[in-house]
Amino acid sequence: MVKNGKYFIYTYGCQMNVHESEKIAGILFDKGYEHTNKVEEADVVVFNTCCIRESAEQRILGNIGAMKPIKAKNKNMIIAVCGCMTQQKNVEQNLKKKFPFINIVFGTNNIEYFGEYLDMYLKQKKYQAKIIENETYLQNPEFKTFVRDNPFNAYVNIMFGCNNFCTYCIVPFVRGREKSRPKQEIINEVKNLLSVGKYKTITLLGQNVNSYGNDFEDKSLNFAGLLKELAQIEGDFELKFMTSHPKDLSDELIDVIAEYPKISHAIHLPVQSGSNKILKMMNRNYTREHYLQLVEKIYNKIPDATLTTDIIVGFPGETDDDFAETESLIKRVKYSNAYIFMYSKRKGTVAEKMENQVPITVKRERINKLLAIQKNISNQHFKELIGTKQKVLIEGENQNYYISKTQCGKVAMIKKVENDFLNIGEFYTVNIVDYIGGNLYAKI
Ligand code: SAH
Ligand code: SF4
Ligand code: F3S
Repeated sequence: MVKNGKYFIYTYGCQMNVHESEKIAGILFDKGYEHTNKVEEADVVVFNTCCIRESAEQRILGNIGAMKPIKAKNKNMIIAVCGCMTQQKNVEQNLKKKFPFINIVFGTNNIEYFGEYLDMYLKQKKYQAKIIENETYLQNPEFKTFVRDNPFNAYVNIMFGCNNFCTYCIVPFVRGREKSRPKQEIINEVKNLLSVGKYKTITLLGQNVNSYGNDFEDKSLNFAGLLKELAQIEGDFELKFMTSHPKDLSDELIDVIAEYPKISHAIHLPVQSGSNKILKMMNRNYTREHYLQLVEKIYNKIPDATLTTDIIVGFPGETDDDFAETESLIKRVKYSNAYIFMYSKRKGTVAEKMENQVPITVKRERINKLLAIQKNISNQHFKELIGTKQKVLIEGENQNYYISKTQCGKVAMIKKVENDFLNIGEFYTVNIVDYIGGNLYAKI
């Protein structure tokens, strides 16, 4: 194919964005562009943005700003900005004002049209602003070319948007209401991916996978049912999914996870806070007690489940007592890992207007305290793995070790032994023998 030029994509935010960058790369690939690792030599640079917290936005704006001297040297470079940030009110206009060198801005609802916008820009040499409001993007079943980043894991979107309106969160504003992909389309995509032969994990994506199918007329189609069907597809692969909202995690789903060996036992179940008062103010629609009950059910039916979570500290009105409840909850659940964030005000959300915003110094204190507690718990998890057998996927190697990942996503190093060749991209069962410096060490 005639090469049109080179592309570079900056990706920020969640797995959804990582996968959407794979779509954007696919569109550019179809147009004859090839990937480069050096942004200076790219003909097309795309910023796939995130606006979940102010810190994310600041970093992105800094990185877009850094393009000014690069573009000054390469006047033909095309700079496009897309993703969640662009979908907020007035952002497109402000971006263009601040960074006049931007050539194309598009939103989350029209990713698949990027190729057309690029053609229009090339033809007219005129700034293209393409934001579609009040809609939810639903993947076109005809869209096939993804340039996938990870050689062993393939992402598959099962739904788009979010209906939950947690009071702190911008996602429902920038991603629209929930829309689920038809079941057969998802099954076909997974089968096609597996037929390639190289993908060993399939990760299903949605802001709240547990509400998959709620928008269908046929109410018998839910996430547990989808997962059950996918888990019966032939082949040696593992099924993962994210994210699960605790309010919609059903007993049926826990049973399906327990019953089908292909479904990963690593479950991400964001709790956000341990205080009922704060959970209510967050509009999370579950209580601490309900959450702990869920955790108990999971550990009862899936004894080797590893739980991870997201937590926000410093939500408006969070007192020392509320925070202490979060502290006690993470000690009780013993997550294998927790992603902890300081609350960040988002424009247009309910929490933005709440009184008793927590001072940054208090947020910092609380996050540091929680991080320290969680670090101990995470270390404990690693140490408990010593002496156990684990199924791992070898993802790479260096001079002395094969680098593998356990099913709960922990790195395990396997020392190379003479005449003992392992295949990258294959599963092996190993004995975990040690834990040093953040890595597990294993023997076949
Ligand atoms: N849909 C997923 C998560 C999306 S955002 C879910 O509901 O679990 C990922 C995480 O970012 C959230 O779980 C939350 O912990 C955090 N987050 C979202 N909005 C935030 C904000 N305004 N300030 C700080 N953290 C936030
Ligand atoms: Fe945001 Fe809540 Fe939706 Fe997750 S469930 S994306 S935290 S509004
Ligand atoms: Fe960020 Fe959008 Fe994901 S705001 S976290 S990239 S859905």
